Amino acid sequence: MSEADTSTQPLISVEGLHTYYGKSHILDGVSLHVGPGEVVGLLGRNGVGKSTTLKTIMGLVNPSAGKVMLNGTTINGLPAHKLARLGIAYVPEDRRIFRLLTVMENLRTGLDRKGMTEERKKQLLDKVFTFFPRLAERSNQAGGTLSGGEQQMLAIGRCLMGAPDLVMFDEPSLGLAPTVVQTVLRCVRDLNREGLTCVLVEQNVAVSLKLASSAYVLENGRITLSGTGAALLTDDRVRQAYLGL
Ligand SMILES: Nc1ncnc2c1ncn2[C@@H]1O[C@H](COP(=O)(O)OP(=O)(O)OP(=O)(O)O)[C@@H](O)[C@H]1O
Ligand SMILES: [Mg+2]
Repeated sequence: MSEADTSTQPLISVEGLHTYYGKSHILDGVSLHVGPGEVVGLLGRNGVGKSTTLKTIMGLVNPSAGKVMLNGTTINGLPAHKLARLGIAYVPEDRRIFRLLTVMENLRTGLDRKGMTEERKKQLLDKVFTFFPRLAERSNQAGGTLSGGEQQMLAIGRCLMGAPDLVMFDEPSLGLAPTVVQTVLRCVRDLNREGLTCVLVEQNVAVSLKLASSAYVLENGRITLSGTGAALLTDDRVRQAYLGL
């Protein structure tokens, strides 16, 4: 999907976001837009504020200034569980698997939408198991006994149980073996093809720019470059700074 279609209202708009941890000024006026059906990449070196951007959008960290809008409505100040009910999901860097709960129990904790029928719950579970057959095979196994890649699938599967419209992935391939990295990133691609809007923070810059319809580069809390994934992939500044070319 192309970011050039400006007639569509962004699903998420972030405008002039400033976020502090104590006195440390982390986000220094971040603005970005995520259109429906897009994969939007967020790139940047360690410690520049990528996770803080996702956490601020998700209502886990309060901004001191700026706006986060969902379909044109300001959602600043809403707690994370309310945002989850509005269709926004976040898969954190550390996955937060309940190690002692089974795969099935972990998935059930993701069922958080009010008034959901048993039939709808079953549909969601079936969808997750169809998408990740490995989770179905391991449904009675404790979360803590899964491999790193399986835990990432579980973290993603659990957030899909909330039937989100948008999922923000924070470094989903971190610490995984190269073949598993491919599997996880293919999941993001396939979920997007099924209509899920995605924000992707990913160390693997070349792969994420190939997946991303548009992307932003964050440096010291500011967006310094943005464009289509394809344009950034051939941009000399990106190639030198992030692709070692
Ligand atoms: N809870 C916190 N309290 C204080 N400082 C924090 C907190 N979380 C993050 N920071 C600091 O804020 C800055 C931005 O952190 P953030 O996690 O957003 O960066 P990042 O771009 O996601 O980095 P990485 O690539 O390492 O994941 C860093 O300097 C970090 O040390
Ligand atoms: Mg981070």
